[in-house]
Amino acid sequence: MLEEKFNLEGKVAVVTGGGGGLGTAICLSLAEAGADIVVTDFRADAGEATASMVKESTGKKAVFFPADITKPEEVNDMMSRAINQWGKVDILVNCAGIVRGEIPKPLWEITDFDWHRGIDTNLSGAFYCSRAVAKHMVDRRYGKIINIASGFGMRGLKGSFMYNTAKAGVILLTMSMALTLAEYNIRVNAIAPGLFETIGPKERYDASGRFIPMGRVGQPPEIGALAVYLASDASDYATGEVFSIDGGALFSGYAPINYIPVVPLKEK
Ligand SMILES: NC(=O)c1ccc[n+]([C@@H]2O[C@H](COP(=O)([O-])OP(=O)(O)OC[C@H]3O[C@@H](n4cnc5c(N)ncnc54)[C@H](O)[C@@H]3O)[C@@H](O)[C@H]2O)c1
Repeated sequence: MLEEKFNLEGKVAVVTGGGGGLGTAICLSLAEAGADIVVTDFRADAGEATASMVKESTGKKAVFFPADITKPEEVNDMMSRAINQWGKVDILVNCAGIVRGEIPKPLWEITDFDWHRGIDTNLSGAFYCSRAVAKHMVDRRYGKIINIASGFGMRGLKGSFMYNTAKAGVILLTMSMALTLAEYNIRVNAIAPGLFETIGPKERYDASGRFIPMGRVGQPPEIGALAVYLASDASDYATGEVFSIDGGALFSGYAPINYIPVVPLKEK
């Protein structure tokens, strides 16, 4: 039955960045499909809030374990606790990232700290979390890893260096992990979201939506449904793939010069 293929009953999912906009939506969708959820984030209040929301709105089990994904020892500790919690981890969603944390600066003013923070958060973190769970998944001959990349991992963006570079790396990391782990029945795929309404003022999203073929930005639950597909048996033959979900933006080029305008456009 098709419905059974999407059913995540009895599965355990770890979602990094689970306190954020897309992370929360992914936790809720996976739980609605039946999974128990380990929420992780370096913001304890936000992570705890997501775990409570999952329990209240879906009735599934959820816990919060803190970790800074740029710190391998914290990641290893979090993953051990996650595995011990319900005896296994079936699904890992690498969603934590700095979305709009790159303060625009001239290229020559970007510090070593800025560079490493951007790359460590948006690329190394996904590697550390995947590494921490890979042997466990190999031993069980089962796993689904979903990396949240970005449309900006497939094109340049004026004034953005760490974010695009790291997200392009996430896409290639996805492909190499998929090839390496395929023989162990572990599937690794990436989601490349376009612009989704998470943090920031609504006016900015409305202005940006005009540059997208569908005329609007995405809403976080729209990512959740794709995450359920990739976390479930329904996607068993898909691995190493990048799934764009962006209202048609990538194919249109988003905006003529590839940036999202900050100032709302005037009505004609
Ligand atoms: N929202 C969008 O339009 C969009 C578009 C493309 C890709 N993405 C990607 O989706 C993911 C989620 O983005 P979002 O919009 O929900 O942003 P968000 O800021 O709401 O969520 C990001 C979460 O990651 C956590 N985080 C950041 N650094 C961390 C660290 N070092 N350790 C642990 N947790 C950390 C934050 O605390 C936050 O809860 C990111 O990887 C982002 O790059 C988002």
